[in-house]
Amino acid sequence: MLKDAMQKALNEQINAELHSAYLYLSVSAYFESTNLRGFANWMRVQAQEEVDHAMRFYSYVNDRGGVVTLTAIDGPETKWASPLAAFEGALAHERYISGRINDLVGLARKESDYATEEFLQWFVAEQVEEEATADEIVQQLKLIGENPAGLFIMDREMAGRQPGADAAA
Ligand code: FEO
Repeated sequence: MLKDAMQKALNEQINAELHSAYLYLSVSAYFESTNLRGFANWMRVQAQEEVDHAMRFYSYVNDRGGVVTLTAIDGPETKWASPLAAFEGALAHERYISGRINDLVGLARKESDYATEEFLQWFVAEQVEEEATADEIVQQLKLIGENPAGLFIMDREMAGRQPGADAAA
């Protein structure tokens, strides 16, 4: 059985992951509106990954005999000044999510909930990847700067991201 504090925190994380999906779908829509369809594809795949993250927590709470309680998802931002600004936002968001995962691990240890601590290890590793990937794209966009040809080439690369594949561009 999950303790109440742990169940509450895991339910809040389901909301946070679904909010991440909503945010990245919003970024995808922004890229669609600026005709960067490769970037839009990348963010759409990312949004689906976030739904998968939410579902890992959903299944885990149920597997432990807990109760999933879904709550309202905050609206995401809808506009960004540039592709770089959008990915800097994504990187900041992933750092925020990493902090949340760390806090969950801390709570699992405090509660001596070893099963949850073990479950969370997948997310600890995943967040290292998520931050590294977002950071890599931010650095590439900084290198490209205002160069339209560079952005065009990168957009073609971003179009190649497939659902379930490695997030690296
Ligand atoms: Fe679910 Fe991008 O972290």
